This record gives sequence, structure tokens and C-alpha cells, in this order.
Amino acid sequence: MKTEYLDRIRCAQLRKRVTGAQEAATWIKDGMTVGMSGFTRAGDVKLVPAALAERARQEPLKITLLTGASLGNDTDKRLTEAGALARRMPFQVDPVLRAAINRGEVMYIDQHLSETVEQLRSRHIAPVDVAVVEAVAITETGAIIPTTSVGNSASFAILADKVIVEINLAQPTGLEGLHDIWIPKKRPMREPIPIMSVEQRVGTTAIEIPPEKIVAIVLSDQPDSTSSVLPPDLETAAIAGHLVRFFEDEILAGRLTNSLLPLQAGIGTIANAVLAGFVDSPFHGLTMYSEVLQDSTFDLFDAGKLDFASGSSITLSPEKSAQVFGAFEHYRDRLVLRPQEVSNHPEVIRRLGIIAINTALEADIYGNINSTHVGGTHMMNGIGGSGDFARNAYLSIFATKATAKVGKVSSIVPMVPHVDHTEHDVDIIVTEYGLADLRGLAPRERADVIIEKCVAEPYRTMLRAYVNEARQRGGHTPHVLEKAFAWHERYRETGSMLEE
Ligand code: COA
Repeated sequence: MKTEYLDRIRCAQLRKRVTGAQEAATWIKDGMTVGMSGFTRAGDVKLVPAALAERARQEPLKITLLTGASLGNDTDKRLTEAGALARRMPFQVDPVLRAAINRGEVMYIDQHLSETVEQLRSRHIAPVDVAVVEAVAITETGAIIPTTSVGNSASFAILADKVIVEINLAQPTGLEGLHDIWIPKKRPMREPIPIMSVEQRVGTTAIEIPPEKIVAIVLSDQPDSTSSVLPPDLETAAIAGHLVRFFEDEILAGRLTNSLLPLQAGIGTIANAVLAGFVDSPFHGLTMYSEVLQDSTFDLFDAGKLDFASGSSITLSPEKSAQVFGAFEHYRDRLVLRPQEVSNHPEVIRRLGIIAINTALEADIYGNINSTHVGGTHMMNGIGGSGDFARNAYLSIFATKATAKVGKVSSIVPMVPHVDHTEHDVDIIVTEYGLADLRGLAPRERADVIIEKCVAEPYRTMLRAYVNEARQRGGHTPHVLEKAFAWHERYRETGSMLEE
């Protein structure tokens, strides 16, 4: 253990900063803004937040917590239960924190993932006092080599006054070289991001900061939390099947080749299953320019379908994690992890022509998407990177099962009660029933295609009736406003959107 730790802190002057988690956490004071590493459960710090939660149970301690995206190791749960979170941004997936957000106890800022560090850099939000970053090692010059995610860690460390590093001895040293840290210059000297293809490296392999900013180093050996996505089922396989046929038609029409264009896939069971469906597709030479690389990325590598994947984190199921990290040298040259403001940057997404596949909670008949608010009011997870990609993609695809809650909820409704992605950002909606290609269609045409292709009965008949009534009132986007949310009201009151 001793030699291992010396090897991992190559900057000799920093070795004296090694300390325990509780001691390190004392750098964090009540009212501070803290930026922690972690993106979709990957590469999050483990021990310092646990020590912080413990302290918050004994003394007044409330912080604003910024991360890349969601955390593992029950960190959000522990901090919430200890009452340590005043504000949280930009993304979470924890049920305990979610409940506290929906009770109005934690102020949650649900934000496009590419934007958080831009707001910090521009001083639109309070500066980060302390950054806490997980690392595989610290270099001779004091630069931090991240682990399984980059997220916002680089900018947090660069912008913070003080940095605490958790060296995770359980993370393989083979991760070194995986990362590509590129940070934009301040405006007005901002230059284009020089990424012209998914595999291009444009930055450094470690986060370069003055070593004297590192005030404490904590040693940990806890693995990342594994992903909780469910395996593909009949419906998600059907969704993947519709998409494969759609892409085959695009190839026949001469708009795409067999290698398509770089793929992005959102978080969760559905997006992962859809991508896994490409394993049995006729496509090859695929690439990904995405944010979280899930099991399906490695299924596609193993199937010989995928050539290269760029992301901001790697989050895998227990089995996949053992397989991938057990033979990481097999994959490493085909992977790069970037800061999330680069993986999700509108400029690069537009330049590369990304095919973005994200998941909706619900869509409406005109193609507006609600990804975040159950019933229009209650936060589920957050918008994540879906908006970064949807607006700027070559093709913006939203997938959802046609119903939720054992058929009591239709995922296609007259009007979504919360809009994350407007009709202007949505090209394709796909459910297990079929695929609605909305390109070039006006709202009245979109409604017909969505209802006929994507909706389960009896909701399809109910939506036809709604649209017919709405059209009698006229309008570019016809609605019966007093009935537009009737389905949601009925669900709230009776537990079902179905009419009696
Ligand atoms: N109304 C109420 N609840 C709904 C619903 C609806 N219309 N549609 C789905 N749900 C519920 C499901 O019942 C399920 O609940 P449970 O966890 O209690 O079983 C939950 O939402 C997740 O749905 P599931 O069908 O399992 O899909 P998923 O795991 O693929 O997650 C989202 C779907 C929308 C919640 C998820 O993709 C998300 O948070 N997206 C927003 C962020 C994003 O797109 N990021 C991409 C880049 S980071």
C-alpha cells in the first residue's frame, strides 16, 4: 500500500498533504460553495462528502454543491439526510434528494450540463470555494489525473481557491492517458474548439493547477457505484428496431452512410437498450460523441460495430465493469474522456453532426418534450445534457415507451405540462408502436403522424377526438386549452389517465 501511494503522488512536496477525510473536510465551512467530481456515478469523491455529512449532523453546516452530474455511493442521500445541502446543481438522480427538492427543502438548479462552468467563469453564480476531485494519481508537476469521469472537475479545480484530492487506489493506473482536458480561453479571446473528429485529442491528459492549491490529499479504495439500468425488454427492443429501419431508409435515401454519424445516447434504461439494439444492425464503423458511456458502448465495441467513443464518463453495470476494467488496455486506445463543456458543446455537436438519442418522460401531439417534471411539477432527475444535444444535433431523436405505470399513463399527451425540449428541437419521436418522422412538418401534420405512429390504444382514439375538437377552434397549433391538462388532472385524482 505504501509504495502504491508514493507512486501515485509523484510530486514529492505534496506527499506531506496526505491526511484523513475528516481532517480534509474541515477546509469546507458552513455556507461555502463546493465543486465535487462525479458524473453519472463515475469518478465521484467518496470519503470527503461522507465525512462532511457526518459533521453536518453535529454542527450547522450547509453548502451549495456543484458536480458534473449525478453522484454514486449514496452521497446525495447522505448529505440530504444530514441537512447539509442548501443548493444543488446541475443534475441528480437520488430518490432522497429528489424528495427533498420536491418538498422545497433543497434549492435545485436543473441546468444544461455544458453551462455550469461557463456560469462560474463568467461569475454569474457564486464562485467555488473548495474543489474536491477524485484522482488516479498526481503528476510530478502537481497535475491531477482524473479517474472514470472528467465532468466539471477540471474547471472546479482551476477556479477554486483550494483543492482537495482523493486518490482512489482502487481505480486502475491504466486510466492515465484516457483524458483530454481542454479549457476555453476567457472572452473576448475565445477560440474555436479545435475538435474536427470524435477521436481527436486537443488538450492535456491531466488537470494542470499550481500544486500549492492542493491543501489535502485523502487516500480511498472504494470502487464507483455501478449503474442501475435494466436490461433491454420487448418494448425497448421494438424501439431499437424502428430506429434501425429508419437509419436503413436514410442510407437508401443517400443521406447517411453505413457508419451513420457520431452517436450520442442519453442516460437510463431506454437509451442504453436502444443503443444495445444496434449490435444486431447492419451498421459498422460507428463512432460515439456522447457524455456517459454505458454498457451498450462496450457491447458495440465487442460486436465490432463501434470504432471510437468520446464521452465525459464511463458508468457500467457490475458485470460490464468487471469485464471492461479487467481488460482496459483492450479498449483504452478507442476511448477519450473530455470535460463536459466540451463533450456537450453546441459548437462541436453542430460541427460533427451528432445523432442524438435521448429519453422523454412524455411528449405531446406537437412534439414538445417533457424529460424532467412528473405531472408538470415534480422533479425526476433533470435535463442533463439532453438539451445541449437536442438543439444542435444533426438528428434529434426522443424515445419513450408509449405508456408508463402499467398503462395508466400515456407518454403521448395533448399538451406537456412542462417543456424541456420544444417542438423546434425534435426531429423524431419513437415508441414501441412506431416512429414519427417530424422533419419538415407543420404542427397539424406533426399531430397526425405522432398520433398514428406512436400512441397506444385507447389513448390513440382519445387523442384523435381531442385533435378534432381542437381543430374546430382553429389556430396554427390547435388546442382546447381548458382540456389540455385534463389527462394529468385525471391521473392525479384517479391514478389513471384513462376515462371511466
Ligand atoms: N409519467 C410519470 N412517470 C413516468 C412517465 C410519465 N409519463 N414516464 C416514465 N415514468 C417513470 C417510470 O415509471 C419510471 O419510474 P420508476 O423508477 O418508479 O419505475 C421512471 O420514470 C423511469 O422511467 P423508465 O421508463 O425506466 O426510463 P429511463 O430509465 O430510461 O428514464 C428518464 C427515463 C426520462 C427519467 C431519464 O432518461 C431522464 O432522466 N432523462 C432526462 C435527462 C437526460 O435525458 N439526460 C441525457 C443526457 S445526460
